[in-house]
Amino acid sequence: MKQVITLNINGDCYELAVHPWRTLNEVLREDLKLTGTKLGCGTGDCGACTVLIDGKSVSSCLTLAVEAVDRRITTIEGMAPNSEELHPIQESFIEKGAIQCGYCTPGMIMSSAYLLKQNPQPTEKEIRAGLSGNLCRCTGYNKIVDAIKDAADKMNQH
Ligand code: FES
Ligand code: FES
Repeated sequence: MKQVITLNINGDCYELAVHPWRTLNEVLREDLKLTGTKLGCGTGDCGACTVLIDGKSVSSCLTLAVEAVDRRITTIEGMAPNSEELHPIQESFIEKGAIQCGYCTPGMIMSSAYLLKQNPQPTEKEIRAGLSGNLCRCTGYNKIVDAIKDAADKMNQH
């Protein structure tokens, strides 16, 4: 039986009826058309589906929508402060050429946001460890690491 739930996503409240077994990823993408959050493996291995819940990065493919009730969900659509500006991490990903295939990028950005919140000045090793749950199978991680270093510098100046 469906359950009526309210989800707080990027500061907006969405009321919807969902089966209790549906994942947050399915509800975001299929019901709410917030397709910036990707679905890769569906088993918690690739990080493409990463969102923030109460500021912490989680795999939305492993989280039930009903578990996210009464919590603060942030998706890639909610990263930019407004329609004119990007988040510094998004800017740095563009400037450093770190947006490679586009498929893994939203998850990488969400994990980066969590990493920089925990550790505003991470070393390269810490950045690589922070991104260890986000897989890129094509061009590698160097530009992504450069982008996160750059974003950290920008964010520390504010
Ligand atoms: S789709 Fe969730 S970790 Fe791969
Ligand atoms: S999987 Fe996205 S750039 Fe490699």
